[in-house]
Amino acid sequence: MLEQIAPNVSSIVAIDNSPSMNSVLSKKQLPCKLTIKEIDITKEPINDNFDAIISSMTIHHVKEVDKLFTIFYKMLKPNGYIALADLDIEDGSFHTIDTGVEHFGFDREQFKTWAKEAGFKDIKIQDASIVKKPYGEYGVFLLTARKSKK
Ligand SMILES: C[S@@+](CC[C@H](N)C(=O)[O-])C[C@H]1O[C@@H](n2cnc3c(N)ncnc32)[C@H](O)[C@@H]1O
Repeated sequence: MLEQIAPNVSSIVAIDNSPSMNSVLSKKQLPCKLTIKEIDITKEPINDNFDAIISSMTIHHVKEVDKLFTIFYKMLKPNGYIALADLDIEDGSFHTIDTGVEHFGFDREQFKTWAKEAGFKDIKIQDASIVKKPYGEYGVFLLTARKSKK
């Protein structure tokens, strides 16, 4: 995903608490400035003013999603936006090992409600893709929303 974003921005701060994921990322050549932060975003929120927060297939690993939306809201500049892709509700078969899985996907209306309660505006949800595995197909949605202008 970062390869698609990098040509369109001047800098990216990539956050992941997994050393192995960060090691893979650090070897990539991206056409923008890249800062990697190895932190648990729920425990060490970053006090920076970001233009946008983009997440793909990560939030089902976070227990308290309502609190995460509030953290994201505080991290954004006025009028900044979120684009969050994650799984629709599934039967638990998406992950073959459930370690670290906090949600078997999400109900889209519940996801929108968390965004609204955190203060986000212009909340939209659309189909993003379908992940095809040998044992099933899994819908992925994309939520986009904005922080207010002031
Ligand atoms: C399924 S992977 C998704 C990776 C990538 N975004 C993608 O779309 O392929 C989920 C990632 O979220 C990271 N993660 C989960 N909970 C996290 C947290 N609380 N703080 C930071 N990273 C977290 C995991 O370490 C893992 O690398």
